[in-house]
Amino acid sequence: MVKHVGVLTAGGDSPGLNAVLRGIGKAAQELFSMKVIGFRDGFRGLMENRTLDLNEQTLSGILTLGGTILGTSRDKPHRMLVGGKSMDMTDAIVENYRRNQLDVLVCIGGGGTQKNAYRLMQKGLHVITLPKTIDNDVAMTDVSFGFYTALGIATEAIDRLHSTAHSHHRIVLVQTMGHRAGWLALGAGVAGGADVILIPEIPYDIEKVAKSVLSRSRGGKHFSIVAVAEGAMSLESSTAEKKSKDKKAKKNAKPQNPQVDEDPYGGHTLHLAKQLEKLTGLESRVTILGYLQRGGTPSADDRILATRLGTACAAAIHNGIQGVMLGSREDRAEPVALDQVVGKIKTVPLDHSWIESARRVGTSFGD
Ligand code: F6P
Repeated sequence: MVKHVGVLTAGGDSPGLNAVLRGIGKAAQELFSMKVIGFRDGFRGLMENRTLDLNEQTLSGILTLGGTILGTSRDKPHRMLVGGKSMDMTDAIVENYRRNQLDVLVCIGGGGTQKNAYRLMQKGLHVITLPKTIDNDVAMTDVSFGFYTALGIATEAIDRLHSTAHSHHRIVLVQTMGHRAGWLALGAGVAGGADVILIPEIPYDIEKVAKSVLSRSRGGKHFSIVAVAEGAMSLESSTAEKKSKDKKAKKNAKPQNPQVDEDPYGGHTLHLAKQLEKLTGLESRVTILGYLQRGGTPSADDRILATRLGTACAAAIHNGIQGVMLGSREDRAEPVALDQVVGKIKTVPLDHSWIESARRVGTSFGD
């Protein structure tokens, strides 16, 4: 019997997604004679049964293409907006899984997608997931698709921002993505030679950040580059968040600084820039890298990772494996039971070698 494989991409787009689709599709068809059915726009397309056959023609020329030819969304099967109402559409999804006579559904995405796939598995569907996010915060895998490319983009941005920083004797703050993990800011900060790196894992003391900028200035370096993860927070905010979480009164808690805490679009970094300007007397300027980090062609590393895990996924399906995420462990594809992945995020360990190396070259983490 020819196996029918369903595939969808969900969550934020990332470089390398099309390379994964190509890896799965080419191996599944050419090696194992399977039929591969793509569902458009994540779980929504599966609910609406909107498909795109992944075959030689649709997979041709997509290795280097950014984004995802299937489209994506952040829609959740159990809470989907239909006709303006939030509804549980799991049954419709199960129905379409059966209608397409799927033997397995491959869900490519980050933490949210892993959780949604796990819910469908609990409804009896055969699922395999692959780790995708530029944040690199999916648990139980060394790395996720998109991270390497985003790291390169953020590093190049920091390289370029050095010009204006030393020409104008300014503090230049560069905000990276990364959600609640500091991998992108840390990696790009080390690679780009940032003088200060602020990550969620190490709540910072603004006075210590200013002190490190001023000591550079006294040493003749009248500029500093500060790499700021979008999830970075001050000691005060971190303490306040912990308290409100402990009291479980988060929804009623007044944000510490409404202007900063409620604005995920760089408000925190803008506020930080103003504070540093006041404390150091140096002009500060902010660059929010945003969606640049998710754009364009994947790096060679991401293409290799995507091809490795995509083709390994086809082989796993051929061998009847399901109910797992295929993570990357050194140079192997390692199946991990989905219940070991969901509900966790991989943050930067405080003893990580990148942190140690950065400290050794004098980088400040504001602590
Ligand atoms: O998860 C990837 C990511 O780019 C995060 O780094 C970022 O916080 C988030 O997605 C942005 O979400 P959206 O694309 O829905 O604006």
